[in-house]
Order: sequence, then C-alpha cells, then structure tokens
Amino acid sequence: MSQHLLLPFVILAISPIPGAFQDSALSPTQEEPEDLDCGRPEPYARIVGGSDAQPGTWPWQVSLHQGGGHICGGSLIAPSWVLSAAHCFVRNGTLEPAAEWSVVLGVHSQDRPLDGAHVRAVAEILVPDNYSKVELGSDLALLRLASPARLGPAVRPVCLPRASHHFAHGTACWTTGWGDVQEADPLPLPWVLQEVELRLLGEAACQCLYSRPGPFNLTLQLLPGMLCAGYPEGRRDTCQGDSGGPLVCEEGGRWFQAGITSFGFGCGRRNRPGVFTAVAPYEAWIREQVMGSEPGPAFPTQAQEPQSGPQEPREENCTIALPECGKAPQPGAWPWEAQVMVPGSRPCHGALVSESWVLVPASCFLDRISSDGQPHDLEAWRVLLPSRPRAERVARLVPHENASWDDASDLALLQLRAPVNLSAAPRPVCLPHPEHYFLPGSRCRLARWGRGEPAPGPSAQLEAELLGGWWCHCLYGRQGAPVPLAGDPPHALCPAYQEEEEAGRCWNDSRWSLLCREEGTWFLAGIRDFSSGCLRPRAFFPLQTHGPWISHVTRGAYLEDQLAWDWGLEGEETEAQTCPPHTEHGACGLRPEAAPVGVLWPWLAEVHVAGDRVCTGILVAPGWVLAATHCVLRLGSTTVPYIEVYLGRAGANPLPQGHQVSRLVISIRLPRHLGLSAPLALLELSSRVEPSPSALPICLHPGGIPPGASCWVLGWKDPQDRVPVAAAVSILTSRLCHCLYQSVLPPGTLCVLYAEGQEDRCEVNSAPPLLCHTEGGSWVLMGMAVRGSRELFAAVGPEEAWISQTVGEAHFLPPSGSPYWPPDGSNLCPPDLARASGSPRAALFLLLLTPLIQN
Ligand SMILES: *[C@@H]1O[C@H](CO)[C@@H](O)[C@H](O)[C@H]1NC(C)=O
Ligand SMILES: *[C@@H]1O[C@H](CO)[C@@H](O)[C@H](O)[C@H]1NC(C)=O
Ligand SMILES: *[C@@H]1O[C@H](CO)[C@@H](O)[C@H](O)[C@H]1NC(C)=O
Ligand SMILES: *[C@@H]1O[C@H](CO)[C@@H](O)[C@H](O)[C@H]1NC(C)=O
Ligand SMILES: *[C@@H]1O[C@H](CO)[C@@H](O)[C@H](O)[C@H]1NC(C)=O
Ligand SMILES: *[C@@H]1O[C@H](CO)[C@@H](O)[C@H](O)[C@H]1NC(C)=O
Ligand SMILES: *[C@@H]1O[C@H](CO)[C@@H](O)[C@H](O)[C@H]1NC(C)=O
Repeated sequence: MSQHLLLPFVILAISPIPGAFQDSALSPTQEEPEDLDCGRPEPYARIVGGSDAQPGTWPWQVSLHQGGGHICGGSLIAPSWVLSAAHCFVRNGTLEPAAEWSVVLGVHSQDRPLDGAHVRAVAEILVPDNYSKVELGSDLALLRLASPARLGPAVRPVCLPRASHHFAHGTACWTTGWGDVQEADPLPLPWVLQEVELRLLGEAACQCLYSRPGPFNLTLQLLPGMLCAGYPEGRRDTCQGDSGGPLVCEEGGRWFQAGITSFGFGCGRRNRPGVFTAVAPYEAWIREQVMGSEPGPAFPTQAQEPQSGPQEPREENCTIALPECGKAPQPGAWPWEAQVMVPGSRPCHGALVSESWVLVPASCFLDRISSDGQPHDLEAWRVLLPSRPRAERVARLVPHENASWDDASDLALLQLRAPVNLSAAPRPVCLPHPEHYFLPGSRCRLARWGRGEPAPGPSAQLEAELLGGWWCHCLYGRQGAPVPLAGDPPHALCPAYQEEEEAGRCWNDSRWSLLCREEGTWFLAGIRDFSSGCLRPRAFFPLQTHGPWISHVTRGAYLEDQLAWDWGLEGEETEAQTCPPHTEHGACGLRPEAAPVGVLWPWLAEVHVAGDRVCTGILVAPGWVLAATHCVLRLGSTTVPYIEVYLGRAGANPLPQGHQVSRLVISIRLPRHLGLSAPLALLELSSRVEPSPSALPICLHPGGIPPGASCWVLGWKDPQDRVPVAAAVSILTSRLCHCLYQSVLPPGTLCVLYAEGQEDRCEVNSAPPLLCHTEGGSWVLMGMAVRGSRELFAAVGPEEAWISQTVGEAHFLPPSGSPYWPPDGSNLCPPDLARASGSPRAALFLLLLTPLIQN
C-alpha cells in the first residue's frame, strides 16, 4: 500500500531536439516598458482532458529545463522573475543549484520553437524557509533570471493578485503546461502547450472531496495557502510535468495568476481535483524577495471589489461525483455488452469502455488484419449495443501489440465511427487502475467474451467469489514464485464458484470475462481465452495491467478508483511470500498461514459409512481419499458399505459459504499383500473434485520425519458439529517408539507424544490423521491412527508404491529428513523400561533418564 499516488507534478520526460534552444542571453535587450503591463496576451490569437493552446495565448508560460529537458512549468511575473513551485527544485531536502536550470520563454511547441523563443540562465532560486514537502504547503519558488527576458508578443508577464484579492469559487480559470496528458501518458510530439479550463473549488467543497478515501484509501488535509481547481467527476486536470505552471483567471480584461500547479492524487481522477498553491497569500513574501528589482511584478488592484469577504457563504454543498461507469440495472443485463458482427464469422462479444471504444479479444480478428494493420472489410463490420436502434459502424481496429503471442494481452480496441450517447442505455464498464486490488470475497460474474457460447447452466453458475491472492497464485501458479502483495498488479484472478460442476455440462467452448462488483459498480476485472476441460474458468488474466494501454488509445475510457477498502488480513501482509512446493501433479497441502478461526483444512473429508459412522478421510488426489481401514470396513463384514465423502465442510473462510463437495465412493482398495489387515484404505470417488481452497489434496510424506516440521493430529472435537481441531504432537524417534510399545508394533508405525493437555482433543473413533506442516510451507500426511489408539499411526511412507500405483496422481514429496525406520536389531532398549507400565508419558520420562545407547 504505497503512497506513490500522491504525486508532485514534476517530470523528466520531454527532451527537445538538441540545440533547439540556444542560450540567447548574449543579446539582452533594453526595451522593457517603464510601467510594467501584465496579464494581457495579444488579442489574436494538454494537460488531462485538455487541448492544444493557440500560439501566443499564454505568453507568461515558461518551461524550466534541467539537463536539457523540460521538468516543470513556470510563469513570467517580471522581466527578471519567474514564479514556479518549490518541489521542482528541492530534492531530498536540499535546494538544487541554480546553475543547473534554464528558463525557456516564448515557447509553444517544445519541438519547433517560435521565433520569439529564447533561453535565460537562472541566477538564483528562492524558496520559502519553511517549505518541506508539497502536502505541507508553501510550495512556491521564485527564479531570478541572469538577464531580463525579451518581452514581445510571445513573452509577457502575468498579473499577480494582492493578498486581499478574492477569486470566487466556481470561477472558470485556465491552466497550461507540457505535462502528461493522462497518468503515465506523456504529451505526444510535437509537444504543443496544452490548456484546460478548470473551475475553482471552494475550500470546504474541496476538503469534502479529499476527506473521502480515494486511491489507496488516502485522504488529504488541505492547508491554508492551498487552492483546488477541477471537477468532482475528474477527467480534466493537471498532471506530471505541469508542476510550477500557472492557474490563471481573467478579470476586467487582465489575467491574474490565482495558483501554482502543485500536486494531486493521480491525475483527473474522480473526486480528486488538482491542488494548487494559492498565490494571493504570498504577496508579502514575493514582494520581499523581488525588492529593488525594476520593474518588479505587477499587483493590480482587483477591478471589482470583492463582495467584502466574509459574507460570501463559506459553507458549500459537498458534491461527490459517483462513478459514471459500471452501472447495470440487474446482473446479467450488461449495458456495455457489445457484439461485433463481421461478415462470414460468428459474433464476437466485447465490452463498451467509452463513448467511442469497444474492448474485444484480438483473437476474434487477428486472421483478418492485412499488411497495413487494418482489416480490408472494416467497412462492413457492425457493432450491436444494447438499446440502440441501429448497429454502429467501425472506424478503426487497434490490436494490442502483444496480442498474437501473449494470451494475457489478447485484446483489441475498436473505435466506433460516431460516439454513442452514454446517458441512455449503452453504458461503459469500469476498468481498474494498475494498483486496483479486488478484495478476496468480491462478488463477481462471468460475462460472455469473444466467440463464446451461451452459458450451459443456470444463471447461478455464472456467479463467483474472488479468492485471495495467495490462494490464487499458489493454487494455479508456479511453485516458489513470490506472491504479489495486495496492491501490486496480480498475475491472475481466481473465482470460486457457488455451485459444483454438474457432470455433462461442458464449458469447453466458452470464453468468458470476469466482472467484479464494488459498491454496486461493475469492473471488467479479467479475461480468459478458453476454459480448461469441462470446467468453468478457474484463473483469469487480470485486466488492470492493461489500463494504461487502454487509456492511451481511447483517451476517455473509464478507469475508476477502487471503491471498497476492507483489505482484511491480506492487506496487512507486507513481506513477499513464496508458494510452497508443488509436486509434478500440481499444488498440494496449501493452507494460508494466518488461517482465521473457522479454520480451513481443504483435504479434511468426512467419510460417512453406511449412514451411521463417520471416519476421517484425507484427500490425496482429485479422485481419491485415504482412510483407516478399520474405520471404513466393519470387522468380519465382507460386503462393501455405502460410503459418501464430504469435502469443504470445515468452515472455510474465505470461501463462499456452503461451498461443499460431496462424492460417492465407488470402490475401496487395500494393498494386496496385506489383505484385510492392511491399516490404510484408498477410497475411489465417483468423480474427481477440482482442486480449490475447499477441496485440495494434501502432500504425502515418503518416509522419515520431516526436519523442522510441526506436527498435529487433526480430528473433530464435537461429534455433532464436527469442528476440526488440531492437537500438537511430537513424533517420537523409532527407537523410543519401539522401546515403548515393543511387542505390539507392526513395522511402519509412528508414535507420537501429545503436547501437555492436548490428548483429548480428537475423537478417537473416527481414526484421525497425523499431519505435519513442513519447513517448506506445505502440509504433509504422515499416517492414519490405528484402531483404538491416539498415539499410534500407520505411516503412508512404506505404502508409497501401492498408493502411487493405485492413485496415479498422489502428491508424494521428495524424501527429506532422517529415515524413521532404522536397520533391524539396532533397537536396544534399556531394561528398566519393562517395569514402566502406565502412560507413555511416564515411560518416556523413564526412558529419557536412562543413558541412551548409540545405534
Ligand atoms: C537523501 O538523503 C539521505 C540523507 O541525507 C541520503 O541517505 C539518501 O541517499 C538521499 N537520497 C537520494 C536519492 O539522494
Ligand atoms: C510558512 O510560514 C508562513 C509565514 O510564517 C506561514 O503562513 C505558513 O503557514 C508556513 N508554512 C508551513 C508549511 O509551515
Ligand atoms: C446546498 O443545497 C441545498 C439543496 O440543494 C440548497 O438549498 C442550499 O442553498 C445549498 N447551499 C449552498 C451553500 O450552496
Ligand atoms: C508487450 O510485451 C513487451 C515484452 O514483454 C512489454 O515490454 C510491453 O510493455 C508489452 N506491451 C504492452 C502494451 O503491454
Ligand atoms: C442523450 O440521451 C439523453 C437521454 O435520452 C438525452 O436527454 C440527451 O439529450 C442525449 N444527448 C445527446 C447529445 O444526444
Ligand atoms: C471438452 O474437452 C475435452 C478435453 O479437451 C474433450 O474430451 C471433450 O470432448 C470436450 N467436450 C465438448 C462438449 O466439446
Ligand atoms: C480507510 O480510511 C478510513 C479513513 O481514513 C479509515 O477509517 C479506514 O479504516 C481505512 N480502511 C482501511 C482498510 O485501511
């Protein structure tokens, strides 16, 4: 959750052609008028949402260069003085040397300067003593030129307001600059000065907007000496590179500089108007600095007396702008759904993103693009939009540059011949900014995308909830890769579906986009080319990384700030995590570290046997559950009972409630060589379960004791509710185990010692499993309890060959740690032990007192 969106508007982007501006200080002129006239451009005559200015309209606008490129704007206030912003010159707490800077005057296009353009060196930079950083105010600077500017039609000073000057709120003023035309979107060649009309916002109205959490949940306290201008709905604003430039208002035929471009939260965002340094309060400071220079800046008296200050209403109505995108009367009736009709192929579904642009998968059209980059039959293409009487015609197709090789960039933009009226039925969908973080648990929907078939199931099958980043990344991503932090662009977005897949419903040929809702507003969050197999798509390519490309091409798509802020546990994560080991069959044994109460054990299965017994089962592969034989098969019975398995019952935050999976057991397998005395049984499920946070196979431990692991017996506390509980245990070494239980132990038995007071946590009748959380982060199954015991477990390690052969996709991890079963004959036990009847703890105590015999 960085605060990088609070942006002082400096830039390092525009570098004019070398030699474009020769320092012409060698030819100073003495033609200044005696009485300095100000704020009057010749009568002849971007910025976000702005347009090219006419040459000569803003003759006081200067460009401040450092290292040969435009960094900031400024305004000429007297032949030898330029007003700008302090933050352009103060880096890391120190004022940069004046000699590094030059002032370019009379320039219109930075690429092709006008005749009157000339450069002046800077003799001195003055900044208020108490300036520290932009959000604390006093963000202004005065630059004394080494020699006076040459005044003329293209170079004239602006008027400064006196301290008493009052600019009424609502006044339409103008700001100018060579800054970015959108966030992260530099002004294109030929770098023509941009102008935009902004309305002055009163202090209360502006504070009201900035008190609402915006990007990154940030709010801002406005300080005296700051001034806001812009619009609650955003879209017109200053941006990077405009810093230090003037905000000017016309009064009585003169232009007064009301403000200096200072900073903003992003650019042109809703409810985030630009913040300027108010010039009027600094009259005294400016006069003091320029004292003695002739002629100095002009401070004409305000033509119209202000309506004597205080009686103007200080209280303003707080007008919050609501999103203009993403409103759907009912889910499923998407007002942005666009169908692109191309002769000779099926319709391709996309989404309207602005009044003139439709976003579509590029793969619908890549085969139609001819060598000139446009389809030859574009003339015949039509776009159908909701509630439009006629189909729209298409002007242009702009495929994403990486569309042909990168599925995550399978995007193209179609420009309509004529913009559509967005106040009526077709409405644009909202698009996320790159830092958008769709919260785990967000309500989402699948929507048709590309040449998709209609949904094969009922509408409820299109509903989904978003999984947290950790799950999504580690379930479907690569092992060991770092999990992106909340607020960093994610690699994937994963929905969890409310309803289970129905057999026979194939989603094969369907392409989908993922729409997610925040505060009633829908965002196009992700895209997916094809679903895998017969499943609904499990992971989507996130759209937020494409926001900058889409806004660069469309100049008007609705990128909307995040609207919901309850980041939850994930938002507090500040250290990058990596995903635990996967096996060749994919992810296994994943469980979030900070699992909240109501814990989630995705491999824990309730095995209902013949309707009256419940055994613990552990999912070991998508179609297989492992259980203790004695629990699932009745002693002496030869008939196979009716068995059902339930997964996802364990309270499962952050999953959709009731996200349960149930399966019938169609066969029980025992290792042939052991027959019915085999302690472990494999239950074959009627169909596979899709790996998800509510049904995920555990990893299997091949043998030995995993080093550094913490181990647990997992069972149920309450036989009615079956709340899962885990009792902490230590696995005893083979020698201790052998000595404690000499006569009774079959080979391959593990024994454990419970942590103080944890013995009674699990129902012994359900045959609980022994699990370890390994150092690598994954959970492994060690064994299942033997009949009637809490301390003895039949290990899975010795049965690796049988399990792997039967199951095919068992997640055995590579061997690690010390072997548990030592060579025969090495287990010499101290003789005293035989006398230690009673609890294993008492025996163990005795054993540990005895000097240990080396193996
Ligand atoms: C900023 O100043 C601090 C302390 O003077 C110094 O450690 C740091 O390297 C400086 N950073 C830059 C980017 O110059
Ligand atoms: C700087 O000092 C001036 C005059 O004393 C004061 O009005 C202003 O609020 C101060 N600004 C900051 C950022 O402290
Ligand atoms: C605020 O809005 C109300 C209702 O729209 C209006 O009556 C009132 O005059 C407004 N107040 C101000 C200060 O504009
Ligand atoms: C296309 O891919 C290249 C290389 O991965 C990347 O640098 C570039 O930013 C991509 N283009 C866009 C518009 O995302
Ligand atoms: C757009 O539609 C609205 C509502 O139907 C209508 O009032 C408005 O005049 C239309 N605007 C244009 C520019 O056609
Ligand atoms: C779906 O895909 C699977 C595997 O690719 C294939 O076996 C099956 O026939 C397909 N089903 C349909 C309805 O296309
Ligand atoms: C968002 O900001 C508001 C107001 O500053 C604060 O009350 C709230 O706790 C913040 N929410 C999060 C998730 O940080």
